[in-house]
Amino acid sequence: MENQYIIKGGNSLHGEVTISGAKNAALGILAAAIMADDTVVIDNLPDVRDINVLLETIQGIGATVNRINSHVVEINGSTISNFTIDSDSIRKIRASYYLLGALLGKYAKATVALPGGCDIGSRPIDQHLKGFRALGATVNIERGMIDTQAEHLAGNHIFLDVVSVGATINIMLASCMAEGRTVIENAAKEPHIVDVANFLNSMGADIKGAGTDKIRIKGVEKLHASEYSIIPDQIEAGTFMVAAAATKGNVLIKNVIPKHLEAISGKLIEIGATVEEFDDAIRVSASERLSHTQIKTLPYPGFPTDMQPQIATLLALSKGTSTVTESIFENRFKYVDELTRMGASIKVEGNVAIIEGVNELSGTSLSAPDLRAGAALVVAGLVADGYTTIDSIQYIERGYECFESKMNALGAVMEKIPVDDERAIQKFKLKVG
Ligand code: UD1
Repeated sequence: MENQYIIKGGNSLHGEVTISGAKNAALGILAAAIMADDTVVIDNLPDVRDINVLLETIQGIGATVNRINSHVVEINGSTISNFTIDSDSIRKIRASYYLLGALLGKYAKATVALPGGCDIGSRPIDQHLKGFRALGATVNIERGMIDTQAEHLAGNHIFLDVVSVGATINIMLASCMAEGRTVIENAAKEPHIVDVANFLNSMGADIKGAGTDKIRIKGVEKLHASEYSIIPDQIEAGTFMVAAAATKGNVLIKNVIPKHLEAISGKLIEIGATVEEFDDAIRVSASERLSHTQIKTLPYPGFPTDMQPQIATLLALSKGTSTVTESIFENRFKYVDELTRMGASIKVEGNVAIIEGVNELSGTSLSAPDLRAGAALVVAGLVADGYTTIDSIQYIERGYECFESKMNALGAVMEKIPVDDERAIQKFKLKVG
């Protein structure tokens, strides 16, 4: 049965929250893990739907997957026997394409269904395929499947035409056991690129320069056992930072790397929030209505596109006129209509949202259009006057672990209930008053 969130708005968030492992790093790392023939142990895994789908898929092709607990998994890729991946579930996640790079890099062949993921733009994968071809692979797309194989993979110099997180990781996977040296120029620099490279290196790969725009990879014969802990999720942390500021709360966000959050912290400080950085935590507080600003999404270290809907929601409640320019994905303003129905004043012109801050939002029935936009609507519901329901929360559950219980522990009032269950709505309203 499909679920929805019901939220009673108006409570400030206070207290501490612990951030889970980074979903987007974990997706690359799980794919990379199948490239060793020894047992690899991965810790700080986020317990979210995309990860669980990828783990089932990895098991489905014959790898041994031993889930020690919700945050630790052991993977052994020596038992892989199937190089074709096509299932309804894998078509729904974006990171299915990492299995192309991992299987191609290890076995020189892979056939994987074209990736799905959030509908936030056209999301081509030409740069991934350009990379595979440069390494000597053939690539054919037929009936929704990508088939790639190589007689022999050899390193090459690859210049990415666009800065792509997925292509950078996929080319690292495909090339780390290729013969000779590969250079990726105009590489993405996101923290999860560095995490995947560190993980591959912990298995014996030779990758240098991850985190800069030039990554140098020297192919090795094989990868070996490793134990690795995934970095904290920058976007989950950012979402709680924005929720703390939007509700005029005071929240200590633990298990973060403050450096990864600088673009978000900088904007929050600019509009008047207080942000304190500690070694592995960050405190965000606000006591009054915040101010306006201009934001443009950019590849790391710029402002992350995955935080665009959340920060726009905060600006919708701030003083004055703000603009938010989306420069990575062309279809990422689908939540604007939902916010407008709550009383926000936002006009979208091309890839720019012009936001006239309003004093308050009012609760209503909403639908999550995608993962991050869904999280933004939760933030809106926390602030709004009265009750908000949000359906299609399966999107939110793709990337946020225990979202409602983490929020409630901070003083939010929200619950997950079945959709169309009028009695559950009444029960919630009676309970929370
Ligand atoms: C990853 C993240 C996603 C995040 C995005 C940008 C995962 C699973 N997803 O997505 O949450 O929003 O990075 O930080 O890690 N492009 C091409 N050709 C390609 C590849 C990309 O033109 O071959 C374009 C895209 O359309 C987009 C831009 O490059 O405009 C960036 O995309 P990319 O960094 O590849 O995003 P994903 O890896 O799909």
